[in-house]
Amino acid sequence: MAEPKQQQEAYLNQPYYGPTVLPAGAESSRASRPTLDGYSLICFFFKIFTTILIVVGIVVLALWLIYQPQSIKVYADTAVLSVFNLSNSGNHSSLTYNLTLTLSFRNPNRKYDTNYERLNADASYSNHLHLSSVALPRFRQNRKSTTLVSTRFEGRAEVPPGDQRVEEAFGRERDEGFFGIRIRMYATLRLKMVVVQSVKFKPDVDCYLRIPSPTNATSLTAGFHSVECDVYNFS
Ligand SMILES: *[C@@H]1O[C@H](CO)[C@@H](O)[C@H](O)[C@H]1NC(C)=O
Ligand SMILES: *[C@@H]1O[C@H](CO)[C@@H](O)[C@H](O)[C@H]1NC(C)=O
Ligand SMILES: *[C@@H]1O[C@H](CO)[C@@H](O)[C@H](O)[C@H]1NC(C)=O
Ligand SMILES: *[C@@H]1O[C@H](CO)[C@@H](O)[C@H](O)[C@H]1NC(C)=O
Repeated sequence: MAEPKQQQEAYLNQPYYGPTVLPAGAESSRASRPTLDGYSLICFFFKIFTTILIVVGIVVLALWLIYQPQSIKVYADTAVLSVFNLSNSGNHSSLTYNLTLTLSFRNPNRKYDTNYERLNADASYSNHLHLSSVALPRFRQNRKSTTLVSTRFEGRAEVPPGDQRVEEAFGRERDEGFFGIRIRMYATLRLKMVVVQSVKFKPDVDCYLRIPSPTNATSLTAGFHSVECDVYNFS
């Protein structure tokens, strides 16, 4: 480092030799120019890139703060039990069921589209007996829109031996004319504004449905009343 400085000083002191020597200095700087230029070019683009990132980040953060995402809303619109029967054979009892359900998913956000990446639903009877699980189709939603999703739970669930709770609940609710079925849903979704996707949201949805007994004409006439489900952990 010190030597070139001395040389430069030497050139300054000897202007006559300057012109002849300077090209050599220019040559050496030209030789190192490509790497030097490449490096400063990379620096330049890196600075621009960083600046753009920071600006985009600030804009997204500002928009996010201004338009705080609102929780989705879920409703059970229709629910029909075409079969709901507890049968005993010896010690062993089982519940046969066929539940057809229409749910509506509402995206109340003015600025965000929603993209459901996963949506699973579990049905259980009387909090005691798990009936079955279904994977609902994935879907995308525009802002301020509602999507209807129909699904069916059908099959037979074995009542654990010695568990009286299901039988008791079944007898009581059959007399009341309505069966209480709980639907729990586990969703994974992302919000999207123009091209920017949010992190994953994993809300849990809980719907308690009172569905007319398929064998009770009075209840069937009264029908099922649509309910709003509870949505937890929309964060
Ligand atoms: C319902 O269960 C009873 C016994 O508990 C049985 O006799 C009847 O056949 C069953 N009905 C259906 C539709 O499965
Ligand atoms: C019913 O259960 C008892 C024990 O809890 C058992 O000894 C008996 O064999 C069972 N009967 C049938 C029909 O499964
Ligand atoms: C369940 O009910 C629906 C309509 O109520 C019917 O189309 C379907 O065949 C039923 N499934 C079974 C297994 O009975
Ligand atoms: C049918 O349901 C009504 C309520 O909708 C209830 O009051 C009545 O007891 C039920 N009838 C039978 C036979 O279970």
